[in-house]
Amino acid sequence: MRVLVVGRGGREHALAWRLAQDPEVEGVVTAPGNPGTAWVGENEPEATEEDAQALVDAVRRRGVDLVVIGPEAPLVAGVADRLREAGVTVLGPGAAAARLEGSKAFAKELMAGAGVPTAPFAVCDSPASAHRAVDRMGAPIVVKADGLAAGKGVTVAMDRAEAHAAVEEAMVERRFGAAGERVVLERFVPGPEASAFALCDGEAFELWPSARDHKRLETGDLGPNTGGMGAVTPAPVPDSEAWRRVGEEVIAPTLRALGRAGAPFVGILYAGLKWTPDGPVVLEFNVRLGDPEAQALVMTMRGAVARAFDAAARGRLAPGRLAFAGAGAAVVAAAPGYPGAPRTGGRIEGLDAAERGALPDTALFLAGVGRKADDWVVEGGRVLAAAAWAERPWEAAARAYARLSAVRFEGMQVRSDIGRA
Ligand code: GLY
Repeated sequence: MRVLVVGRGGREHALAWRLAQDPEVEGVVTAPGNPGTAWVGENEPEATEEDAQALVDAVRRRGVDLVVIGPEAPLVAGVADRLREAGVTVLGPGAAAARLEGSKAFAKELMAGAGVPTAPFAVCDSPASAHRAVDRMGAPIVVKADGLAAGKGVTVAMDRAEAHAAVEEAMVERRFGAAGERVVLERFVPGPEASAFALCDGEAFELWPSARDHKRLETGDLGPNTGGMGAVTPAPVPDSEAWRRVGEEVIAPTLRALGRAGAPFVGILYAGLKWTPDGPVVLEFNVRLGDPEAQALVMTMRGAVARAFDAAARGRLAPGRLAFAGAGAAVVAAAPGYPGAPRTGGRIEGLDAAERGALPDTALFLAGVGRKADDWVVEGGRVLAAAAWAERPWEAAARAYARLSAVRFEGMQVRSDIGRA
């Protein structure tokens, strides 16, 4: 089987790395890819994520059997639909189902209608109605821009003043552009976070083990929110027995509701959860794998990965093809100034040595890394991650730190408590 992965981040490097090890995969192409995906396959640098025609051309030219779409933007833009119309087998939902991530109001209304546990909420189309809702609902409260805001657009407001300011920022100052024309206000839910992923074929699904994303920049869960500074799988909470409730209470009713709405979900459904004394409460849905969670999960993934993805893409998921063993961790190295204003251009030392001197059961996944003459340079906010497998999450994290220790760049930001926090 020949597989094409769409995207250019650490998640896509991790997917390409795992697929390239599958004995049933003859070759992996990543479009457009990054220097790390070129280590494990070939890149199609001209075929960017939202250019459906370029992706179809690459599929035909390279005899690709299966396309796996990594990021949310092309899914929300309908790239999976365009590829399916061209006869391509795709793992990734069409635009109608991708609204689950593209519109937080759509997701909340679908959850409310389907009985999926989620916090009380209000959808507001004007600043005046949003301010009234803040006064009515009180604080702490979460203010969310309705549309895609590149990982930003969500404010956890501890008091009403902060919530009113977040409404102004989204709806009046238009900090997130059209994404903030509508906001969703949601009652704050306390408790530990966990990320759930399910491989879905439109009706059936296979729930994967839990993962935990460490979103705060600094050790001790301090500092601003980021796209994720590290991840472990399984998550510390809940245990695997309780985790099964996510399938029954979250994934199954969501898939049924999408099916009834004529928007069957084919792809990897991601529920961001809080674990409360009553069980899971959904904070948000995403319509793709999480990043950095994917980088930890691929370390534990066993079995016929490509065949499982292909079967789901064809609407014929056969549970049991995929298995997960032990624990995984990923530790992110971020650029100086990240997440506010990452400073790029700095030289990365030790990357070649780190790549050659590989420790067993570890990997380096590149994200914001570029090439300048003979040097590796910082090109994005989250630069790279080291990932590892072990029996337990803290051991996997220790191995990931060991793999990362050879890499250095000026102002490198790394949390020291992944797997222990
Ligand atoms: N782990 C957060 C995200 O992928 O959106």
